[in-house]
Amino acid sequence: MTVNPADDKSKTAVAFPLIIVDFGGLTEAQLLGAAKVLRDALAHVPSGYQAEGAAEAEVAARRGETDWLGFAALHDERLVGWIGAIKVYAHGWEIHPLVVAPDRQRQGVGSALLAALEAHAHCEGAATLFLGTDDDYGGTTLFDVDLWPDVLSHARSAEVTERGHALAFYRCHGYAVVGVLPDVNGLGRHDVLMAKRLG
Ligand SMILES: CC(C)(COP(=O)(O)OP(=O)(O)OC[C@H]1O[C@@H](n2cnc3c(N)ncnc32)[C@H](O)[C@@H]1OP(=O)(O)O)[C@@H](O)C(=O)NCCC(=O)NCCS
Repeated sequence: MTVNPADDKSKTAVAFPLIIVDFGGLTEAQLLGAAKVLRDALAHVPSGYQAEGAAEAEVAARRGETDWLGFAALHDERLVGWIGAIKVYAHGWEIHPLVVAPDRQRQGVGSALLAALEAHAHCEGAATLFLGTDDDYGGTTLFDVDLWPDVLSHARSAEVTERGHALAFYRCHGYAVVGVLPDVNGLGRHDVLMAKRLG
């Protein structure tokens, strides 16, 4: 699938020509590129993949799973982002991961990858896409807040801080906050759960 800036009518137009390809068909060099993008995109996140070999191990593990599928965005053969999903339920897939190379962020790559996954998931009969988006650095107003006992009222009030967070990206694409897993990355470091109805 080719996404050209000139004919891209999506919500966030891509800033340069992109090709979206099946993750299963990537070359060894592109797979190393996928690991680098994973490491670099999450460098600001304590729960990222900074340990030596961690990003490469994650790429290998995902590729080996029969219930996982993915797409990669290529620009001039360089892998600039990728998205994956796990078929957790018969009609509900979990997005994991979605990462864009830091020098290519805010140029429409993430939106193009998400659109490709949503179209494919819808075609395959998925009704819902969902994800957990961690905040262990202060990107949302939930960071460092004790969410108990009324966790859901905090979930309803979640906003993005000036540090920026993927929550804003997903909201812009129709995903709603459907819950929070409190303290799962340490006290005050929560995982925000989001979902979208397809179709
Ligand atoms: C989140 C991410 C995947 C988005 O991909 P992207 O290619 O940068 O996003 P797009 O250019 O398609 O953005 C579309 C819109 O989403 C919103 N958005 C994207 N990233 C954002 C951020 N970090 N903070 C706030 N809003 C954001 C903006 O409204 C943006 O439009 P604008 O640039 O015109 O304002 C990418 O920035 C990334 O890899 N971030 C680090 C890793 C990460 O957080 N992954 C998600 C884990 S769940």
